[in-house]
Amino acid sequence: MVKAIISPSVLASDFGNLSAECRRMIKGGAEWLHMASHRIMTKLTLNRSHFVPNITMGAPILTCVRKGIPDIFMDCHMMVAQPEKWVNDIADAGGALYCFHLEATSDPISLIKAIHDRNMKAGVAISPDTPSTAVTDEVGEKADMLLVMTVYPGRGGQKFLDRCVPKVAELRARFPQKDIEVDGGVGPKTIDVCADAGSNVIVAGTAIFNAPNPEEVIQFLKDTVNT
Ligand code: DX5
Repeated sequence: MVKAIISPSVLASDFGNLSAECRRMIKGGAEWLHMASHRIMTKLTLNRSHFVPNITMGAPILTCVRKGIPDIFMDCHMMVAQPEKWVNDIADAGGALYCFHLEATSDPISLIKAIHDRNMKAGVAISPDTPSTAVTDEVGEKADMLLVMTVYPGRGGQKFLDRCVPKVAELRARFPQKDIEVDGGVGPKTIDVCADAGSNVIVAGTAIFNAPNPEEVIQFLKDTVNT
């Protein structure tokens, strides 16, 4: 049985108080922190969108966060073209997991190896229009985590796309021991279907950071996955 891991998306935090915001999440019970890296100039074809419509954080910010909280697990979601280019930077910045988009590379196996060579876990993300069958058996076996996006990548606060949920169940059936993450529009109202389908790593941005009591939301998400 895979265990529940809550990974608040720092994209929804107050960037002016980043360190304090990260500590607030760890104190509230989060195991990981989801660091979403988008770059507007990267021309990444994530199916419908040619440009991820946001600029967020890169290695220099991760370095600062890591310096303040040395034992933090940074779950780095790289919404970038040419994900091969950033492996060393993110490893040097202290990333624990490097998650790239399957749509953004022609050689996922070599990329997973490069990530492992830098002692990071490797995650493979699929966007809403990418079928679960795009994750080959070899990719699924070699990756440490599979991420099913439940919104189009680019920004927080979007509506959860129910139609992505069957992909979680399909991947769970094929890879019973893997961490399977969901990201986008996930919160107390949508966690049930995610947990039922078999996801165990839960990213939530606005649902946690904007809550009056983030620790209650974190606990609720965790309990729902664990039951
Ligand atoms: C989407 C990002 C998400 C986003 C989730 O591009 O990868 O992590 O911040 O935010 P919510 O939970 O608010 O949809």
